[in-house]
Amino acid sequence: MRTVGLGIIGLGTVGTGVVKILHSRRAGITERVGGEVRVERFCDKVVSSKPELGIRAGTVSRDYRELLADPKVDVIVELVGGYEPARSIILEALKAGKHVVTANKAVLAKHWDEIIGSAQKAGRLVYFEAAVGGGIPVIQGLNEGLAANRIRRIVGILNGTTNFILSKMSEEGLAFDEALKLAQASGFAESDPTFDVQGIDSAHKLAVLSSIAYGGWVKLSDVYTEGITHVNPLDLELARREFGYGLKLLGISAEHDGLIEARVHPAFLPLSHPFTTVKNEYNAIEIVGDASGDVIFYGKGAGQMPAASAVVSDVIFLARQVIEGTAGKLPTVTYDEHKKLRILDRKDFLSKYYLRFTTKDKPGVLSKISGILGEEGVSISSVYQPMVADRESQRPKSVKGRPRTDPHAAHILLTTHSAPEGHIQKAVQEIDRLPTACAKTVCIRIEEP
Ligand code: HSE
Repeated sequence: MRTVGLGIIGLGTVGTGVVKILHSRRAGITERVGGEVRVERFCDKVVSSKPELGIRAGTVSRDYRELLADPKVDVIVELVGGYEPARSIILEALKAGKHVVTANKAVLAKHWDEIIGSAQKAGRLVYFEAAVGGGIPVIQGLNEGLAANRIRRIVGILNGTTNFILSKMSEEGLAFDEALKLAQASGFAESDPTFDVQGIDSAHKLAVLSSIAYGGWVKLSDVYTEGITHVNPLDLELARREFGYGLKLLGISAEHDGLIEARVHPAFLPLSHPFTTVKNEYNAIEIVGDASGDVIFYGKGAGQMPAASAVVSDVIFLARQVIEGTAGKLPTVTYDEHKKLRILDRKDFLSKYYLRFTTKDKPGVLSKISGILGEEGVSISSVYQPMVADRESQRPKSVKGRPRTDPHAAHILLTTHSAPEGHIQKAVQEIDRLPTACAKTVCIRIEEP
């Protein structure tokens, strides 16, 4: 029977999950591949045997180059994460004639041109299903399943950690810091969650999806990125109660007559939108094709076994091609190094907005605010002045995350019709300079189909 040899680099959470599936599903995988998939070598920082996983210390090396030099290894499975040494491992593996499976969205987003270009030149494959959406087969869905379409738009909840945090802030009224601590204690957040909470992890994933969708490299720097660290539970509560909105961290990209728009930021969605029911570590990605219309992918976006499921599915499809002798004859994704995408400037993004002004409660303030918005061509959809201060004082003290409210300040909540971002920002800057302004205006985009 033909054998396909794997070299697995990184035996952390996902790597261990991959080994578990390769063991438990051995017979099914062999049948699917038409040959045996055998892990020939491992590479990890710590060289130790793991008998429960069938890993002998003799097969574990500290130097990944030993795996690249091993002729029995056909496929390198890179599971170290981060930019380096992942980039070097992938590029050197391709140069050494190996195919690559990676779960690493960061390195793909940052070095897409180099990695995909090198794979094409080397006639080798790079598969990366686990890079976006954990166990959700969204890469195959987009790249193969929707290949007939011109992709119009992608909207996704792409990060489980921030989705968990926003779920807890919304359901339990927790402040951001408290919800983050809970996410870490529950094992959802990474020990360093910076990339997650600042939106960078979502931006990596959006860049990868968009690069496939629009047939050119959407760089990380092309994605406008805003995280959730500044989200105040007061806005979650007010927007839910007064306007029927829920908040999600969204990655959004779209193509408008050759111009690509790409952004990651918190956004309100109507509670009737299916994404508002996506909770905790779950991800959801809506892709709109010109022929297919809307397609929604949903599932566990993080965690050992969902990510391992995606890695092993890549291994199976790659191994099948290795056995058939077709691996690398066709590239994984369409990529033309000469194709340069034009990126829509942030000031031209069109969005509806939720604005919360904190002002002195005096006659004429509202007319001044609406006048400035009008001068910038921003049309108001609804206005509301909640009695926040009164309600605050009536709340039980035991409820956590309660924002302090100046009893003399008024909150004016306002939603706008769709307007260019540049106009909104200019109006808000002017409003924040008014002598009646008590705090910086909270601006949150609204995504309403
Ligand atoms: N840290 C990511 C998340 C999981 O929270 O969704 C890996 O992509």
